[in-house]
Amino acid sequence: MSERISVFGTGYLGATHAAGMAELGHEVIGVDIDPAKIARLSAGEVPFYEPGLPELLKRHVDSGRLRFTTDVHDAAEFADVHFIGVGTPQVRGGYAADVSQVESVIEELGPLLTRPATILGKSTVPVGTAERLAARLREIAPAGDEVDLGWNPEFLREGFAVQDTLRPDRLVLGIDRDRPGRVEQVARRVYAAMLERDTPFLVTDYATSELVKVSANAFLATKISFINAIAEVCEATGADVRDLADAIGHDERIGRKFLGAGLGFGGGCLPKDIRAFMARAGELGVDQALAFLREVDGVNMRRREHAVTLAERMLGGLDGARIAVLGAAFKPDSDDIRDSPALDVAGGLHLRGAKVVVHDPEANANAARIWPTLTYADDALEACRDAELVIVATEWKQFRTLDPQALTSIVASPRVIDGRNCLPSEDWIEAGWEYRGMGRLAG
Ligand code: UGA
Repeated sequence: MSERISVFGTGYLGATHAAGMAELGHEVIGVDIDPAKIARLSAGEVPFYEPGLPELLKRHVDSGRLRFTTDVHDAAEFADVHFIGVGTPQVRGGYAADVSQVESVIEELGPLLTRPATILGKSTVPVGTAERLAARLREIAPAGDEVDLGWNPEFLREGFAVQDTLRPDRLVLGIDRDRPGRVEQVARRVYAAMLERDTPFLVTDYATSELVKVSANAFLATKISFINAIAEVCEATGADVRDLADAIGHDERIGRKFLGAGLGFGGGCLPKDIRAFMARAGELGVDQALAFLREVDGVNMRRREHAVTLAERMLGGLDGARIAVLGAAFKPDSDDIRDSPALDVAGGLHLRGAKVVVHDPEANANAARIWPTLTYADDALEACRDAELVIVATEWKQFRTLDPQALTSIVASPRVIDGRNCLPSEDWIEAGWEYRGMGRLAG
């Protein structure tokens, strides 16, 4: 059965969710306060890089099942189910999450809800937020008790957003335990196609649903920092962290995924989520429980510094050195440069006097906005021309498949730091490169 749905926020999460809901057969209106974004989306264009999304969006804009607006009244009038997918970034000067965008949606939408409606929050919020927002909604919505709130965290990964939205590995719904029933029925109708495929559907209370999301990200961050901490020990001993990860990853209880040692995690989620989680634990008086996340963050940030120091060591100084940094996005198949390890390394080298040329297949423009003083090249070969050192900082396929032999005639000296342990090291060494990985071939 087709539902009338609104999605507030049209970033990576909201735009993908809106298009995904249209794909499931619903009629969808996407809402954002940014008129430029809405204009592009209405024309069927995605304002960021996400594989598969442009096709999906265009298909449903053309079919008329998906449209976009800046007008909250339009959304309130049209839809019976309202998703919230706005951002919750780190506050300036602190660790906590800034939930003001979520609050704005509630404050603007709530007073317009004159008939029964369901609001489903997808944004990552500190535990306790949903309960507070539910109480506020009851105060300000004319339909009062006929307005329900559920918390339905999103687990999509950038780069795989479409597939994760249409085929999630689980659905989680937090509800008000005193008012069960209606929200779950609505969510079951919205997600009917997924539930038919036996997608696990976990219904729980608000607090648990909020904690599920941040716990999942904290666990992933911990796994990455664990292997990066081991990488530090490997570097001190000449051991190879990639072989080590392969070996421990065969144990099903451990698993090989997210044991990729390298420059560590970045992006708009993992770094800020672990910090917001620590901040919330502090407010709740259980800061000791999450004290280990401070170390997870610390190990992660040390990897970026390590890459800069390694470059300095390999070159015998950074002042005036010409360095190619391949990658600016926080991971491949994304143009997102939020808290990007690659860009942090490029910036760090630049601040210590190196002449840095950056190339990213999709993120050059975003990177240039926050690091205008770096030089940007249109392709990898141009970035590498006359370089004394090449650093692979994001594991785009284009970089993983570079021909080390051909590249030797372009660079000034064949030195490479494989910041993501993604290159076939034997080939590079055979082609005459001085190769350094992260946590391997420490030399
Ligand atoms: C992450 C989670 O994986 C999603 O499940 C979650 O929904 C999302 O945050 C969110 O909260 O919205 P995402 O930020 O897209 O997704 O990126 P990941 O694929 O998790 O990668 C995060 C970072 O970890 C990247 O910088 C990546 O390069 C790094 N990473 C990943 C490693 O350094 N090593 C690994 O083995 C894996």
